[in-house]
Amino acid sequence: MAEIIDIGREHSQALARGCQVLESAEPVAIPTETVYGLAADATNPQAIARIYEVKGRPRFNPLIAHMSDLAMAERHAVFDPLSRKLAEAFWPGPLTLVLPLHADSTIHPLCTAGLDTVGVRVPQGFAGELIAAFGHPLAAPSANTSGRVSPTDAGHVQGDLGDKIRLILDGGPAGVGVESTILKIEGDTVRLLRPGGLAVRAIEACIGRKIIRQDKAAQTAIEAPGMLASHYAPRADVRLDRLHVEPGEILVNFGNQPIAGLDDAIAIFDLSPQASLSEAAANLFSIMKMADQLPARAIAFAPIPHHDLGEAINDRIARAAAPRPEVSYED
Ligand code: TXA
Ligand code: MG
Repeated sequence: MAEIIDIGREHSQALARGCQVLESAEPVAIPTETVYGLAADATNPQAIARIYEVKGRPRFNPLIAHMSDLAMAERHAVFDPLSRKLAEAFWPGPLTLVLPLHADSTIHPLCTAGLDTVGVRVPQGFAGELIAAFGHPLAAPSANTSGRVSPTDAGHVQGDLGDKIRLILDGGPAGVGVESTILKIEGDTVRLLRPGGLAVRAIEACIGRKIIRQDKAAQTAIEAPGMLASHYAPRADVRLDRLHVEPGEILVNFGNQPIAGLDDAIAIFDLSPQASLSEAAANLFSIMKMADQLPARAIAFAPIPHHDLGEAINDRIARAAAPRPEVSYED
């Protein structure tokens, strides 16, 4: 089992021990506002290779390089006025910007998968402090075995990766609950590579223009390799937009909608009885994990609105419902 340090109770110990394990080129599970990350020194190929090994990731996808602040990010990525405006508006926060890699960046190509771009973000809270103390960007995908749902608390990480990693820094449940929104900025064009914890509406209000949503069919291996395949794969089938539940199924409701067949459901969850999309995002992965532990034939999701964080929630459950491909590009 991994050592767990509660960052609320033992803050300086968590920082010191976190830096020590990172220095030894081993990954550390860290809390971020979106999901828990499996973090390693983004400038050290041995450390990055350990992330892939621990996650059992089938192939090398580009990883997000997490920064302590905009100043650190500017040493590794090239910002223009538009990307700087977004960074100033939303960092620290659940936004990743895919930008040209800076010529002087020390980020290792194993983190960028050899691309000439890099995904950068400044996470909120303890993660930013740890990066500042460590002094280098941290590559960090979600801290789960490839193909499982992203962890939103330290217990999820311990249960999944506890025998493969040394240290989990426990910051309590993740507040946002879904991964960061990923934007690619190219000149005047802003493209959404992944809907996530920052609503598109807020981004569009900031920059005063529409962003381009990626056509799913046009998502190429270069654009967002981790975004292609069935990303979350519960054992049970997943059915979407249901207002009735079949015998032997689990219902995942939203906003306490009236659902037919409740008496024969084997379990009933509600992502947010008050119909709050941000509460639903925060609960999504832990409810999917609980549902996946029950012997159900299928998990039926009630309709969830598509606006604001509903876009990311619907994206993640659609991936969970997608047919399982032979070769996947899980992250
Ligand atoms: O909220 C999050 O973003 C979490 C926490 C831990 O920060 N991290 C996360 O990382 O979700 P990961 O590795 O699971 O997803 C990173 C996504 C992948 O789909 C990857 O393909 C894309 O970012 N990505 C990273 N760098 C890229 C680049 N240069 N070009 C295109 N896509 C990139
Ligand atoms: Mg992931």
